[in-house]
Amino acid sequence: MAVRGVLIVQLMSLTLTIHLLAVPGELFKPFNVSYDHRALIIDGKRRMLISAGVHYPRATPEMWPDIIEKSKEGGADVIQSYVFWNGHEPTKGQYNFDGRYDLVKFIRLVGSSGLYLHLRIGPYVCAEWNFGGFPLWLRDVPGIEFRTDNAPFKEEMQRFVKKIVDLLRDKKLFCWQGGPVIMLQVENEYGNIESSYGKRGQEYIKWVANMALGLGAEVPWVMCQQKDAPSTIINSCNGYYCDGFKANSPSKPIFWTENWDGWFSSWGERLPHRPVEDLAFSVARFFQREGSFQNYYMYFGGTNFGRTAGGPFYITSYDYDSPIDEYGLIREPKWGHLKDLHTALKLCEPALVSADSPQYIKLGPKQEAHVYHMKSQTDDLKLSELETLRNCSAFLANIDERKAVAVKFNGQTYNLPPWSVSILPDCQNVVFNTAKVAAQTSIKILELSAPLSANVSLKLHPADQNELSIIANSWMTVKEPIGIWSDQNFTVKGILEHLNVTKDRSDYLWYLTRIHVSNDDIKFWKERNISPTVMIDSVRDVFRVFVNGKIAGSAIGQWVKFVQPVQFLEGYNDLLLLSQAMGLQNSGAFIEKDGAGIRGRIKLTGFKNGDIDLSESLWTYQVGLKGEFLNFYSLEENEKADWTKLSVDAIPSTFTWYKAYFSSPDGTDPVAINLGSMGKGQAWVNGHHIGRYWSAVSPKDGCAKCDYRGAYNSGKCVTNCGRPTQSWYHIPRSWLKESSNLLVLFEETGGNPLEIVVKLYSTGVICGQVSESHYPPLRKLSNDYISDGETLSNRANPEMFLHCDDGHVISSLEFASYGTPQGSCNKFSRGRCHATNSLSVVSQACLGKNSCTVEVSNSAFGGDPCHSIVKTLAVEARCSSTSSIHFSV
Ligand SMILES: *[C@@H]1O[C@H](CO)[C@@H](O)[C@H](O)[C@H]1NC(C)=O
Ligand SMILES: *[C@@H]1O[C@H](CO)[C@@H](O)[C@H](O)[C@H]1NC(C)=O
Ligand SMILES: *[C@@H]1O[C@H](CO)[C@@H](O)[C@H](O)[C@H]1NC(C)=O
Ligand SMILES: *[C@@H]1O[C@H](CO)[C@@H](O)[C@H](O)[C@H]1NC(C)=O
Ligand SMILES: *[C@@H]1O[C@H](CO)[C@@H](O)[C@H](O)[C@H]1NC(C)=O
Repeated sequence: MAVRGVLIVQLMSLTLTIHLLAVPGELFKPFNVSYDHRALIIDGKRRMLISAGVHYPRATPEMWPDIIEKSKEGGADVIQSYVFWNGHEPTKGQYNFDGRYDLVKFIRLVGSSGLYLHLRIGPYVCAEWNFGGFPLWLRDVPGIEFRTDNAPFKEEMQRFVKKIVDLLRDKKLFCWQGGPVIMLQVENEYGNIESSYGKRGQEYIKWVANMALGLGAEVPWVMCQQKDAPSTIINSCNGYYCDGFKANSPSKPIFWTENWDGWFSSWGERLPHRPVEDLAFSVARFFQREGSFQNYYMYFGGTNFGRTAGGPFYITSYDYDSPIDEYGLIREPKWGHLKDLHTALKLCEPALVSADSPQYIKLGPKQEAHVYHMKSQTDDLKLSELETLRNCSAFLANIDERKAVAVKFNGQTYNLPPWSVSILPDCQNVVFNTAKVAAQTSIKILELSAPLSANVSLKLHPADQNELSIIANSWMTVKEPIGIWSDQNFTVKGILEHLNVTKDRSDYLWYLTRIHVSNDDIKFWKERNISPTVMIDSVRDVFRVFVNGKIAGSAIGQWVKFVQPVQFLEGYNDLLLLSQAMGLQNSGAFIEKDGAGIRGRIKLTGFKNGDIDLSESLWTYQVGLKGEFLNFYSLEENEKADWTKLSVDAIPSTFTWYKAYFSSPDGTDPVAINLGSMGKGQAWVNGHHIGRYWSAVSPKDGCAKCDYRGAYNSGKCVTNCGRPTQSWYHIPRSWLKESSNLLVLFEETGGNPLEIVVKLYSTGVICGQVSESHYPPLRKLSNDYISDGETLSNRANPEMFLHCDDGHVISSLEFASYGTPQGSCNKFSRGRCHATNSLSVVSQACLGKNSCTVEVSNSAFGGDPCHSIVKTLAVEARCSSTSSIHFSV
């Protein structure tokens, strides 16, 4: 038994073993990476790899270690990230590798936790990131055309890709130098747009491949969604399902660079969720059908801080319904169910890597098996004892969306739930089925934090006696001027393209012109009872018109016609336009030509002497807001603004800055601020830009119940109907001080700052539901399973595993029943069969603990409460912080 234990530790902890042998200064003992038709070959061995997508600038460096650790604990072998060019080179030739852009630090953290890194350099990355990752100055390079056979573009692209590869080499981050980087990516989903570029697109891709290979990285490169990738580059799949995917050459392995485990959202949209049963199904199907590298996009989505959100119109949260949520907390049952899946897949790894291809067995009209036989060893190496036990692994799939089916395999009968895969690491015993979730469900709560205002004056919010807000007299306010505010303004003839003027230094661009209106015009309008109208061929993203300082109308959209009747006075009138970009285009062909603001002609109609074309008039331009450029939000400079005390009568107010101070909530739980009472704008805490906010409400309908069965799409399982798409915004802990945290908001449309609340975010309620028919836990397998004397066919009973967030314990049990409990989380009830000691057994095991396991068996509950019925244990518990966060008014 002891020998077996040693064997399994060596097999399962390959990375750990390598880790221990590394010389000081290296993260790993140096190793080479190559590939064959089946898999990546790491240090001479084929590997089946689970990768976790984590974008470093979407979290803070202080969050990175925990996110990496939770990825590893969830079963990831690899962390995958894009590289964000516009973050690293905001001004041409001036590089930024600090703070959230400290790429080297991020990679070292990945390596020091024993994980590998797949770096997708791009440098076009899409990523729902501003301008797809391109720096704005790239548009201004003379003669440039992006992502095609264009010399200026190729020169800039090569310079940046080389910069990153050289950085990795200089810092010894490649695997052959003892670092974690095992694979790179160049370009990104170019195949989706290649046809728009014709022959030049094809030439470009050949050049991209040669350029990348020429940089001496000495690790494999991938191109995703690139059917015509050259022979030197692995083409990989992105999507919700990639199990039918084949690489464009039989000598390349089958890789899945983006398994979309959720989706992003736009202002005014619902929130997408992907059920974990379907996600696990897609992953199991992929490995079943010869896949060997699978990355979750995203494993941690995070936050589009500042103005990094792409679009237009992508929200500040990039939570993505990931296994690790926006705040860095584990999302259940997603994280736990995938962890169980990964453990099952790892048990199959010896057979999966040994077989060159699986044996296919049709089990029914929509049922099939793929069996991986371990090759009989012709060389001197004999199969180890462990491998002999598991020299064959099988996947049984039922792709029927409706029916559960019993299939015969290897002389036994297996029941397959609809739309599911069963995993049999020894071709006999099922250890996991993708549709049977044993992991707990966690419900997150937002709790009142410590006092919000350093100027400790609080009031109860009348609508909710549990909520506190910062009281009026601690809020300060100052108006943003409407229109031209600085001598940086300039006047030219004609309409300039928005981005050409702003260079994306701000979302906002003002355009001012003067209109002369005669008495005849006024009479003309009166007689006919008509209004003059501003007509613009095309505008985006948010567009407003002001006449003589007063708002006259607005439009929201992506290149929409603007038609707005206005009222003029006799004499000179100020016609002022405000164009606002809400995240620059990040996908599609020719994004450098897309621009923002106004396209086409702009005219005034309805005048006595005919239409007035303003397209060639004199216009005065002003980039940005006064408050933005004078740093009204910064700790050092906010005092320079003429803040006055906010009076309740002045609410709501448009184009207004607000500031208040608040104390940091105690403890280590993540902090969130609710801006749902505000209209639209941007927010800063202690000078850090926490993002754009907008209380745009999603449609009321479409949030029907979700069924995991059948092909997923982003519209299938949505929540949050009829509510603002985003109300809560993450304030990273590391941006907070103990007290006097400066909160500054710029508000465009109105809204009530007095209702803003800051809260602590944590898992509040956890529920488990595990039946006797669930498979025994696999989480023990990787370490002591064999040495415990168990085999796959002789395993212990199923268990319920419950856990709260770090620093929290199970503080109360709301429900516990072993028997035939009914309902689901938050609404369990007892069934006819109930073990009377259910609550005491679970209490004893769990109360006061951060995590606990309860065996789901008759013996654990002192005997069988009802014979010949399959029993289930259902538990609902509450988690509370161990540090007291109680707050009394
Ligand atoms: C990696 O491959 C190179 C080139 O084939 C070889 O020189 C080197 O020794 C290998 N490194 C390791 C750690 O195997
Ligand atoms: C595979 O496993 C079976 C059952 O465990 C065993 O009988 C057989 O000898 C094994 N085959 C090889 C090649 O080790
Ligand atoms: C709270 O704020 C008010 C108004 O800004 C100020 O007069 C008062 O001194 C402050 N109180 C404390 C305790 O700082
Ligand atoms: C606009 O710029 C001009 C020239 O720099 C300056 O004289 C004028 O005061 C500016 N207007 C405003 C409102 O600041
Ligand atoms: C932006 O400015 C450049 C010159 O800097 C000019 O060539 C280009 O046409 C402008 N783009 C638009 C859309 O006006």
